[in-house]
Amino acid sequence: MRAVTIRDGGRIEVADHHDPVPGKGELLVRVEAAGLNWADTAQRAGFYPAPPGSPADIPGLELAGVVEVVGDGVLRFGPGDRVMSLVGGGGQAELALVHEREALAIPENVAPLEAGGFPEAFTTAHDALFTQCGLGPGERLLVNGAAGGVGIAAVQLGAAAGADVIASVRRAELRDAVAAFGATAVAPEDVERHGPFDVVLELVGAPNFASDVAYLDTCGRIVVIGVAAGSRVEIDLHELMAKRARVFASTLRARPLEAKAAAARLVERHVLPLLAAGRLRVPIEARYPLEEVETAYARFGEGGKLGKIVLAMSAST
Ligand SMILES: NC(=O)c1ccc[n+]([C@@H]2O[C@H](COP(=O)([O-])OP(=O)(O)OC[C@H]3O[C@@H](n4cnc5c(N)ncnc54)[C@H](OP(=O)(O)O)[C@@H]3O)[C@@H](O)[C@H]2O)c1
Repeated sequence: MRAVTIRDGGRIEVADHHDPVPGKGELLVRVEAAGLNWADTAQRAGFYPAPPGSPADIPGLELAGVVEVVGDGVLRFGPGDRVMSLVGGGGQAELALVHEREALAIPENVAPLEAGGFPEAFTTAHDALFTQCGLGPGERLLVNGAAGGVGIAAVQLGAAAGADVIASVRRAELRDAVAAFGATAVAPEDVERHGPFDVVLELVGAPNFASDVAYLDTCGRIVVIGVAAGSRVEIDLHELMAKRARVFASTLRARPLEAKAAAARLVERHVLPLLAAGRLRVPIEARYPLEEVETAYARFGEGGKLGKIVLAMSAST
C-alpha cells in the first residue's frame, strides 16, 4: 500500500509499505479519506512520537473507508461496511487498521470526505463539552478558536444541546460562516460583553486563560484542549475558589483502547443520530489527493481555515 511517510528531518512523502494485517478485534479498512490534525504536524516535526502499537512513520489520527478484511473475534462489522474511526496513527494510508471498538458506522447520508474529517473533531468536542464539563441546555458556552475543526464541531454540538454559544474567531472574514453553525461569532476582544460563561472550551491556550477565568460564571468550567499559542500561565487561585470553578484538560490520542472505545460509544449514542439527521455538518476547507500531501500539510499550517483539511485516497473521493 501507499502511505504518507515521515522521513528524518520532518520530510514527508508518499511511499510504499507492506499491507497491514488485522489482529484480534481489528478491521483492515480501505481508506477513502483521512483528516489532518495538529498532532500529525507535531509528530512530523519530531516532538510527538506515535503511541505504542501505531506505525512510527505513518501519521493520521482519523479516517473513513470501507472494511476489507476483519481479524479474529470481530463482532460489530464485516467486509463492505463503511466505517470511520479514531486511530493512534497510520490513518493517512491506502489501508489502515482500526480496532472495532473505536469504529463508528458512517451514516448513509454522509460522504467519505466528511466522514474522514469527523472522528477527531467531534469526539474531542463531545468529550470536552459533555463528558468533562457536563454542558447543559440553557448554559452559556464560549468556544475560543472556533473556526477550526474542533471549534466548529463544538459550536454545533453546543447549539444542538440547547446551549447559548459564543464563538471567538480572530479572523473577521470567517465570523459569518462560523455564526451559521449556531453561534454568536465575535472578535476575541469582544468576548467579555457576552459573558459570564458557564463553560469555556479553550482551543488556543495560555494567552486566553486569565480572561477565561475572569469571564467565568459561578460554578463555571474551563476545559483546556489546545495550547498552540502557549501552555504556561499564572493564575490567581483565589479567583478560582471564589467562583467555585473547575478546570479540566485532556488529550485524546494517548488514551488506552478502553477509554477511546467509551468515547466512541458516547459519540455513537449522542452525536451520530444528529449527523444522520443532517443536523451536523463537517465543513471541509480543502481536499487534497494523497500525492499532494506536502501541499495539504502546508495549507493546514497556514491557518485561516473554516473546518477541516482532508486527504482523499482516490480520485472519486
Ligand atoms: N487535546 C486533544 O485531545 C485535542 C484533540 C484535537 C485537537 N486538539 C488541539 O485543539 C486545537 C484546535 O484543533 P483544530 O483541529 O480545531 O485546529 P484548527 O482547525 O487549526 O483550528 C484552530 C483554530 O484556532 C485559531 N487560533 C490559533 N491560534 C490562535 C490565536 N493565537 N488566537 C486566536 N485564535 C487562534 C485558529 O485561527 P487561525 O486560522 O486564524 O490561525 C483556528 O481557527 C489545536 O491546538 C489542537 O492541537 C487537541
